[in-house]
Order: sequence, then C-alpha cells, then structure tokens
Amino acid sequence: MQVNFGKETRKMKTRFTEMFGVEHPIVQGGMQWVGRAELIAAVANAGALGCLTALTQPTPEDLAKEIGRVRDLTDKPFAVNFTILPTLKPVPYEEYMDAIVSSGVKIIETAGNNPKVFMPKLKEAGVKVIHKCTSVRHGISAQKVGVDAISIDGFECAGHPGEDDTPGLILIPRAVEQIDIPIVASGGFADGRGLAAALALGADGINMGTRFMATKEAPVHEKIKQEIVDASELDTTLIFRSLRNTARMFTNSISKQVIEMEGEGKSIQEIGPVASGMRGRKVYEEGDVEAGVWSAGMCIGLIHDVPSVQELVDRIVSEAEGVIRDRLGAIVA
Ligand SMILES: Cc1cc2nc3c(=O)[nH]c(=O)nc-3n(C[C@H](O)[C@H](O)[C@H](O)COP(=O)(O)O)c2cc1C
Repeated sequence: MQVNFGKETRKMKTRFTEMFGVEHPIVQGGMQWVGRAELIAAVANAGALGCLTALTQPTPEDLAKEIGRVRDLTDKPFAVNFTILPTLKPVPYEEYMDAIVSSGVKIIETAGNNPKVFMPKLKEAGVKVIHKCTSVRHGISAQKVGVDAISIDGFECAGHPGEDDTPGLILIPRAVEQIDIPIVASGGFADGRGLAAALALGADGINMGTRFMATKEAPVHEKIKQEIVDASELDTTLIFRSLRNTARMFTNSISKQVIEMEGEGKSIQEIGPVASGMRGRKVYEEGDVEAGVWSAGMCIGLIHDVPSVQELVDRIVSEAEGVIRDRLGAIVA
C-alpha cells in the first residue's frame, strides 16, 4: 500500500504485511464453495492474501490438486482455510491437513475450533497460522498455543459470528488491547473507509468474505452477484441460534424456513437436509437464490458493483489512503 504524505511516498507497512510477505493488508477469508483457485490466485496477483477453502474440495487429493492449480496461476503468497466445525458427515481433518502441509503451503487460516492439535505439525513444517475467531478469549487461547496472527470476526460477518453478538467496533479494539500478535479485523468490511477504520482501531489489516463474492473472478453465478449488488444491510438473517451454532445467511425462503423449524423445536436431523451445504452450492452454481441457505454478511449493503479483484483491491487501498491522508489529515491539520 503506497501512501503519499505530502511529497513523500511511503509504502504502508503493517505487522500483517511484514509477517505474511504481502503487499496490502487485505485478506480474502475462506469461503465454502467460493474459495477456489481462480479467486485465490486473482487475490494473490492483486497483492492481497487469498485463502483457498480446503473443505470445498471433496477429498484431500482434490485439495492437493487445487493447490497445484493456484500455483499455476500465481507465484505470490496464498493461504489455505481449514475450518473445523460440527458437520453432519464426519470430515477426515488429519488427511486434509496432511495434504496442505505436504503440498508446501506456508500460510493457513484456521477457524471454527482451536488449532492446538495441529500446531506441532504446522510449526515443524514452517507454516504460519492465522486463527480466525469471534471472541477475544478464543483469540487469547489461540495465541497461547502459538498461532502467528488472529483474525477477529465481528457480529456483522457472514458465516459464523459466534454467540457473543459483539460488533467489530467493540471487538477489534478489545482484541488489540489484549492480544500481542498481529490482528486482522474481519466482518463488515467492503471498502477503503473500512480499511482505514480498522487500522485506526489498531488492527494490522482486514479480512473480507462477502465483498469478494461480488467480483468478476469469484466462481459465483452472475445472478447471485447481482442479488448481492441489489441487497441492503437488512437482507441477512441468523440461523441456528437455538443450536448455538449461529450462522449469518442471506434472507430467503429457506433461511426463513430453517428459523421456523428451529422455533418448532425440530431436531438437527430434520433441519439438516433443508440447510444443507449441497443446496447452498446450487445457489452459487445455478444462480437460484432460493435453492438453499447461503452465507452473506451485513456489509452486503455496501456492495454496489462487480469489479475485478484487481480493481477492488486497488480501489480499497487508494480509498483508505485518501481517508487517512486527506479526510483525517484535514481534520487534525
Ligand atoms: C459464501 C461464504 C462462505 C464462507 N465460508 C467460510 C468457511 O468455510 N470457513 C470460514 O472460516 N469462513 C467462512 N466464511 C467467512 C469468511 O471467511 C469471513 O470471515 C467473513 O465473510 C467476513 O465477513 P464479511 O462477509 O462481512 O466480510 C464464509 C463467508 C462467505 C461469504
């Protein structure tokens, strides 16, 4: 990130850009079905950090091939997202982890659970770990087991915001107060104003999911990208609250049905098929907004176009520069 302070041009460095060897303090977080090679490579080529989503690949062997595809498309750093969450079907986590490590990946984004059991293997292989979590206490626990950075996801975020309901405006500075390693602010970020705000709160970078879905390179049907552009910040909803596995989804007939079923006290076995990930996959592939539940964050209200990843990253960086230098600079001048 180049920042012009008067005549002088400086590269904006944060602990994040230094530690992970990327040009800009921007991460594209793991996204089930969306975090595939084309998007990850586009993010890497734009100078940000993309996270390939391990569990989007049906088997560990497919994941190893997908990592190879990213390498064919970029020689810049990238990460793999490794999400450890309760699933209806058991996941061979150890084997996915082995595929990541043996492919020589050097950055991993863990989420959903403390990565303690995997840390010895990751450290031995020289893999840097960004642990994404939704509370400061989980961030502190992850720091204790040796992760390198914490991505702290506020209540606004797409996917799993946890059960504390603490928005980023409070969560980010609380994390900065109590955690020593670099902090990536996540949830609700979609533009340069957000990046400048996160840096002002003490974070070392931002993580975005929903904003990257509405880019040219995201493997998401055009109709869904348009749905994102047309939606407002009021168009997301929280499912699985009653199961204490809250997820923020786009509001559609299926997310409403899931909430109704929760209210009727239906079991996870009954709700599971309605809220299944495979139905969500159909949304992205076929462009049918009502095919299943699909993740979206409140920042959907800040998304007004479908740029290329390069255009998006460049715009966020230059807008953040403008906010820091011109808008904020003029206030204190
Ligand atoms: C479609 C979609 C799928 C997601 N899937 C995952 C996932 O599998 N694992 C994970 O750790 N986070 C997942 N997330 C969360 C993102 O990585 C990121 O933390 C979140 O989107 C940040 O909030 P934002 O959408 O407001 O930018 C997903 C987000 C979206 C939009």
